Amino acid sequence: MSMYKKVRSGVYSLKSFLVHGRFKTERWDYAHHVVPPLSSTSTFRLDSSKRGAQGFMEYAQPGSMDFEKPPIYIYERLDEPTRNMLEDRLAQAEGGEIGVCFSSGMAAVAASLGILTRAGDEIICHPTIYGCTFSLLTNWLKRFNIATKFVDLKEPGRLEKSITKRTRVVFFESPVNPTLELIDIEAVCSRVKIANAKRPDSDRIQVVIDNTFATPFCQRPLEFGADFVVHSLTKNICGFGTDMGGAIVTRREFEGSLLMFRKDFGAPLSSKNAWPILVYGVPSLALRMQREIESAWEIARFIERQPLVEKVMYPGLDSHPQSALALRQMLDFDGNFAPGNMVYFTFKGGPKAAGRAEKFVDYLANNAYTLTLAVSLGQIRTLVETPGAMTHAAMTEEAKQNAGIHPGSVRLSIGIEEVSDLIKDLDSAFRAVR
Ligand SMILES: Cc1ncc(COP(=O)(O)O)c(C=O)c1O
Repeated sequence: MSMYKKVRSGVYSLKSFLVHGRFKTERWDYAHHVVPPLSSTSTFRLDSSKRGAQGFMEYAQPGSMDFEKPPIYIYERLDEPTRNMLEDRLAQAEGGEIGVCFSSGMAAVAASLGILTRAGDEIICHPTIYGCTFSLLTNWLKRFNIATKFVDLKEPGRLEKSITKRTRVVFFESPVNPTLELIDIEAVCSRVKIANAKRPDSDRIQVVIDNTFATPFCQRPLEFGADFVVHSLTKNICGFGTDMGGAIVTRREFEGSLLMFRKDFGAPLSSKNAWPILVYGVPSLALRMQREIESAWEIARFIERQPLVEKVMYPGLDSHPQSALALRQMLDFDGNFAPGNMVYFTFKGGPKAAGRAEKFVDYLANNAYTLTLAVSLGQIRTLVETPGAMTHAAMTEEAKQNAGIHPGSVRLSIGIEEVSDLIKDLDSAFRAVR
């Protein structure tokens, strides 16, 4: 039985597959290595011009990423084996047919929207979204006459009235960045399925989910009916804050256009960035997430007890307004509740709240040992930021309000430090802003 079949049929756990992967396929062979090798060549030797021509012809045809078929490697921007190994593992982790990796999460977001839309089309997007995705939609895609309609997908019923003949994509994150509200993936997908039933295949609406916050360890949107999963690998999947990357996992039918888009727009993940994600990030994902979830839970409960705090959002808290959905949707590979490692909270104080949030993170920046003031997330180190002023600065004040991003809010990405140390540092910061 192949390793794929053993993992798919439950003989081995996906957690073990993420550590070992497949040692030998037609595309790579590291049966004699313990650690997968790092390929470090931008171009590949061809044994005849005919074979080179064949490679160019076959490239980006559906089936190009078939790991049972000998590849014709030509040039790193097109395809290369270290990245292929990572793509194979990510596709398995998300339960998809193919994975395609990019140089950053934004390159992956742009590629998913790039292959699915053309001038005149419309995207439906939840209003709370990562700041640069918002900017891509409202600054760049708009220029190409691709319009975005922001619709509150917490109420999936709104889709019925919002979908038009021009709609091609429904895009959202869950949990959303930064407020940690959830979108019911299954409910959105089933409504899109109803709309698609009346459309020809060429006009089908595709559901694209940015699963960066949850990671496949906590949630696998394809299982709920999504068409595309997008990741910033820079975050929890890399896990150590050393490398940038992005990925799309989807069905094989989209493989050709994704590879061609990546070839022509030119944002592939380089082998040197793929390697640490493959060798350190992916194998340790489950272990890191388990530890970080435990700490995030404890920290969310601690923050909930603070008198200056208005609201804490963590999908694991009973007070989360969608805790029942969290319990249904955020499950690890073994079916345990896995509410992730991100925590969001807001300060009380009306107009004073923004000042408090700023003072709080500045205090941490200058005094804390275990928390670091920095953007990004999903690292072994706990990171803290004020999303309204930092990661979501690209949004207009109106868009932030529409997205529910409170001026006095703080976002935490919990790492693997000792949780009592994290609480000690947070406690000092709360005392400092009283
Ligand atoms: C939810 C989400 N998606 C996408 C991105 C973009 O990822 P990258 O920085 O790797 O381009 C980010 C970055 O913070 C993010 O938080």
